[in-house]
Formats: sequence, structure tokens, C-alpha cells
Amino acid sequence: MSPELPDILSTPAQTPETFSAPAPAPEVLPVPLRAGACPLGICDGSGFVIEEDSNTASDCRCRAARIAGARTRSLEGRIPRRYRGVSFDRPPVSDIARTAPAQIQSVRRYVQRIGANLDAGKGLWLQGDVGTGKTTLAMLVSKAALDAGRSVAIYSLPRLLNLLREAIDSPEGKLDLLDRLTAVDLLHLDDLGAEARTDWVLEQLYSIVNARYEAERAIVATTNLMPDELSERLGARTVSRLVEVCGDLIPLYGEDKRREFRAPAQTA
Ligand SMILES: Nc1ncnc2c1ncn2[C@@H]1O[C@H](COP(=O)(O)OP(=O)(O)OP(=O)(O)O)[C@@H](O)[C@H]1O
Ligand SMILES: [Mg+2]
Ligand SMILES: [Zn+2]
Repeated sequence: MSPELPDILSTPAQTPETFSAPAPAPEVLPVPLRAGACPLGICDGSGFVIEEDSNTASDCRCRAARIAGARTRSLEGRIPRRYRGVSFDRPPVSDIARTAPAQIQSVRRYVQRIGANLDAGKGLWLQGDVGTGKTTLAMLVSKAALDAGRSVAIYSLPRLLNLLREAIDSPEGKLDLLDRLTAVDLLHLDDLGAEARTDWVLEQLYSIVNARYEAERAIVATTNLMPDELSERLGARTVSRLVEVCGDLIPLYGEDKRREFRAPAQTA
């Protein structure tokens, strides 16, 4: 990378106030963000969208979120490909709305006030059977946060625990990772309870949840665990904090939709 270009994403911690200001309009040439795919799949990763007709560049919706992501460098802040097009008015969410209208309404209400909810450290959690759309709905929340220019970290809990295991090898590694996980506007924790329950796992999960709880920062979570299994599998102190951050569980029960017939996926 050319040394003249400000390396926005590796700038050390800045105050949140810095990030709430709109990105300055590019003067001559837009300064590209550091390489990496657009988390929303819109721009080429530069943070700008070129309008062909007028040959001008405008900010991609990802830009504010990525600048805000300076503090959260190297966390996974991208919507996975499968869930990238997720939207209330498209399947599968429009299908889920027919069988679980109240649940969709809860998610919709949350998303409509995403900024205020994140500012208040309020989250959501979705619970229920395999293949009923929990991750899909959680991705809808993460996408709304990214669209609103907020920083998001998206992990399945087993993967995040693997990262913590690796981070432990370096002295500051684990604290640094925990700090970054605490700094994002939204932490999306998928598949709580999918990992083997050990003292170490319970302790790590508690550290993550408690750090965000103390910082009054939002969490969106999904789990296959039944309500009466939560404390036993995740630890009572962790569950107590999750209840306060995420409110009541949003239940999604039913058949595994992955096993039902669907039209063949489009091939590229
Ligand atoms: N009501 C539904 N109608 C049609 N397809 C659905 C519905 N719910 C989910 N799907 C599809 O089923 C698949 C699984 O959805 P998703 O990953 O959100 O499930 P999940 O509840 O998180 O499952 P798991 O518990 O295994 O993590 C996706 O391909 C999704 O598009
Ligand atoms: Mg899931
Ligand atoms: Zn973009």
C-alpha cells in the first residue's frame, strides 16, 4: 500500500464520536479502504460505488461501518454469502412470516429502531429447532446494523472459541480479542450451546457476555437449546445477563426447512 494513503482501518482506537461524523466527501480521488470484500456485497471493496453514467464515485453503504470497524480490525464483520440477500419481503423471511408472524413482528420492530436499540445496548435472541430460520433472522439484524453504519462482529460460538484458543498463545492476544469483541456495536453470536460444555468454554462465554453486559452493548444470539437447558449448558450467570441484554427468547419451532423440497439453487 502506498504510504501517502491514510490506512484508515489500522488506525488505533478512536473515540466513538469520531465515527459518528459523516465521512468527508472525496476531494480529488476517493481514498480506497483497505482491500477486503464489501460486507454488503455492493462495492468492489473500495468503499465507493462508481456511477457509470456520470463517472462519479459515491460512498458505498459499507463505508461508514468499515471506518467504524477501525477499532474492531480483523473481526468477522461480513454477512456470509448464504444470508447476504436476506430481507423481510423475500423468502425465506416472507415464508417464516406466514408461520411465525409474531416472531417476525418482534424482529421487525427491533430492526425499525436498530440505532436506538444498539445505543441502548438492547439485543435479541432466537431459540428453537434446527433449520427454522434463526440464523436467517439474526443475519437480518446484523445486516440492518451494517446498513445503519454500525460495526458488527458475526461468529458462531464454536468458531469464536477456536479463535480464543489461538489467541491465548500470545500474551495480549486474548485480552485484545475480548476488547475488540466488546467494542463492536453489535455482537452476533450464532449457535450458543453447539459446543461441548467444559469449564473453559463456560468461562470464555461468560467473559464475552459479561464484558458486553457491563459496557451496555447489544448481542444478537441464536440457540437450539430449550429454555430449561440454557442455564445448565451456558451457565446461570451468563444466561441471566443474556436475558437482560436480549429480552425474552423469540421461539422458532417446526420442521427442518433444510430438509424440505426447494427449487434448485441458481447456479452461477
Ligand atoms: N420458514 C422457512 N421457509 C423456507 N425456508 C426456510 C424457512 N426457514 C428457514 N429456511 C431456510 O432453511 C435454511 C436454514 O435456515 P437457518 O440457517 O436460518 O436455520 P437455523 O434455525 O439457524 O438452523 P440451525 O438451528 O441448524 O442453526 C436456510 O436455507 C433458510 O433459507
Ligand atoms: Mg443457525
Ligand atoms: Zn461496499
